[in-house]
Amino acid sequence: MNGRDLVRSVKAVGSVGQGLRTVRAAWRRRRADAAGLPPRGAERARVPGPVQEVEPEPGGGIIRFGRAELRILVAVNGAVFWGWDGAGPEPSYALAGRCPEPDPRAVLEPDKDGGWRVVAERVTVAVSRHGAIEVRTPGGVALRRDLPPRWWEPVGGGPGRWMQRSDVAADARFFGLGGRASGPRLRDGTYRLWNTDPGHAFTPGDDPLYITMPVQLVVADAGTHLVFHDSSWDGTVTLREGEEGAGSGHDRAGTSELRMDGGPLRCWVMVGAPARVLLTWASLTGAAALPPAWALGHHHARWGFGSEQEVRRIVAGYEERDLPLDAVHLDIDHFDGHQVFTVDQDCFPKLPQLAEELRRDGIRLVSIVDPAVRAASGNAVYDSGTAEDAFVRDASGQVVEGVVWPGEAVFPDFTHARVREWWGGLYEERLGQGFSGFWHDMNEPTSFTAFGESTLPRSARHSLDGWGGDHREAHNVYALCMARAGYEGLRTLAPQERPFVFSRSGWAGMQRYGGTWSGDVITGWPGLRASLALVMGLGLCGVPYSGPDVGGFDGHPSPELYLRWFQLAAYLPLFRTHASLRAGRREPWEFGADVLEHARVALVERRRLLPYFVTLAHLARRTGAPYVRPLWWSAPEDRTLRDCEDTFLLGDCLLVAPVLDPGADRRAVQLPRGRWYDMATEQAYEGPAQVLVEAPLARIPVFARAGAVIPVRGDDGGLELEVWAPAPGRTGGGLVVPDGGDGWDEPEIERYVARRQGARVVVEREGEDGVSEPSHPVRVRGLTGRGTQT
Ligand code: NOJ
Repeated sequence: MNGRDLVRSVKAVGSVGQGLRTVRAAWRRRRADAAGLPPRGAERARVPGPVQEVEPEPGGGIIRFGRAELRILVAVNGAVFWGWDGAGPEPSYALAGRCPEPDPRAVLEPDKDGGWRVVAERVTVAVSRHGAIEVRTPGGVALRRDLPPRWWEPVGGGPGRWMQRSDVAADARFFGLGGRASGPRLRDGTYRLWNTDPGHAFTPGDDPLYITMPVQLVVADAGTHLVFHDSSWDGTVTLREGEEGAGSGHDRAGTSELRMDGGPLRCWVMVGAPARVLLTWASLTGAAALPPAWALGHHHARWGFGSEQEVRRIVAGYEERDLPLDAVHLDIDHFDGHQVFTVDQDCFPKLPQLAEELRRDGIRLVSIVDPAVRAASGNAVYDSGTAEDAFVRDASGQVVEGVVWPGEAVFPDFTHARVREWWGGLYEERLGQGFSGFWHDMNEPTSFTAFGESTLPRSARHSLDGWGGDHREAHNVYALCMARAGYEGLRTLAPQERPFVFSRSGWAGMQRYGGTWSGDVITGWPGLRASLALVMGLGLCGVPYSGPDVGGFDGHPSPELYLRWFQLAAYLPLFRTHASLRAGRREPWEFGADVLEHARVALVERRRLLPYFVTLAHLARRTGAPYVRPLWWSAPEDRTLRDCEDTFLLGDCLLVAPVLDPGADRRAVQLPRGRWYDMATEQAYEGPAQVLVEAPLARIPVFARAGAVIPVRGDDGGLELEVWAPAPGRTGGGLVVPDGGDGWDEPEIERYVARRQGARVVVEREGEDGVSEPSHPVRVRGLTGRGTQT
């Protein structure tokens, strides 16, 4: 620590007092780890050695090697599990419940060269006699080959490190690993697995960010697979894409090298088309929470509204200009002294009344919730948490103190069921203030520091739901467990309503409790690109609901950048403007008359598409398919689509081509197979093709798939079906989930088919007893005779 560190720290945390606290906290953390972590001494390296015996079990069995033991299990959902050295699927923070039952049809049988294999319906897993594991398609093509793992274990005992290197096809592309700003296709490089607040507005070069997950989705000509290494410890993944030898037969395989500081070496693999893989992943890690319909509208947030008057001014600004608005978010400035679960009574004296007025106008209030609790007796949350023994302690039994917005702060141990229950109960105060939704922040967890890591000491103790351990293991699941606490608390406190929780940090399985957002994305064109990369990448890890801070978190976006961000986010699940305390304005009317009119078009279109978003939310919950999908979703074998990162599919019906560069008034769009209509002009295009289309400031190009049946909101507020004419001789269709907007009723999914009959389009609802008239008014588009272009 030197003078420069202190100056940097003071700048980051806002005051000299806070800066000095971060210095003390950094030293405390260092001392705690020096005393509480085992010293790193001599290590012994190990590999499995030669195979010795096998023991069949239902769904697979155990293979014993000279120095290690491997358990393989094919589960009924088609996923394959394997774990080394006694590691089973449980306990796991990622799994939604118990591990699925073994598939009795899968049996362990001898393979060539003294190896063993398990043959299942969708996958064959072959284990060589030295412990290499190959995942093959039913046709026998290798999708992934794991070399025998290596361990390094302390000579005196204790958790060891391990490394797993894997080869994939030369043409394979990597996706996933949680929320990465540089994706969604993960280029060659090393990616860290440690949830991190970068401490500044991030750019695509910043890694890691708030959500890391050892989840890789690998797409290759031979097939798609998802692999999940179920260890929450710190680690790195080094990826290197392969190279094809242009027919010379000298392909170089792609490689992934996973190095973990600890935790079991166990993994799940699922194989199939992308939709099948995500379905299996969701069946393991749980269905995505269904947001209330209002959460699929437009949200306006700001760090620093500062008062009820300012909130009213913003809301009035939307109302006077007739701009749709569904939610307003209050940041930490509405807390009393930045203390969670409190209200600054001077600036927000009548919050419940404000909430009630807004609700009457159809606008919900969302509250930020930070995990850190100000360590001061008299602070009710601190007092009740202390009485509950809720806060994380260090190895010597002292409560760990860090520094966050309220100053010296303590951190609930969300890995303890009793603590989660206590914390969940605290949302009663928020509901009483009139809040309808919850925005979990700073939960990596972040603790400001003058030097070293901005989180808790690695030696800090955690319950880990009875298993006991330290922060090295609990860190990455901390926010996941906080989300669970909030979600479950709300289920108890407001059982009729769907909880709306979104969280900055998280881990595999976080979709069970809600969604996330980009965090502090930098204001600039690279930030706009990163916004899309994050949403797409997270969707491929099973987290379908997310979105960026429109306009970027810091600084002043140009009117053009703000508008293009707004237009993109209108087609993302979370559509929210937000910015930092010191950043420029973000209201649509602050950028001139043209931007206001174009932003209005985006807002109105979003509201019109709300029933479609609600349908996508239901489908995400039932099938694991994200709302926002890469172009290759239905054609992963198409290499041109695999490399396309600037265009996405929104559900099955729409293709969105945002403008991600300054000064553009047209852009090239890659269209997958089939006919696509430009929604603004109704011009038809035949894919596969790359087309050049107009992208004036007024709109970004959005295409509808021929035959699509899209539920939209009609002028009278009722549900209508917008049907895009199928190409001659073709049929189309779509699913509609009519939803009450909130609550737990299970609406019946409506299935529609659209057929072309000469110049007409016939739309019918399909049911068990045959077809019937559609349940909603139908409007056909795309029949205006505008020619087809390729
Ligand atoms: C960090 C969050 O990422 C940001 O969205 C929020 O405005 C600030 N914390 C203040 O609460």
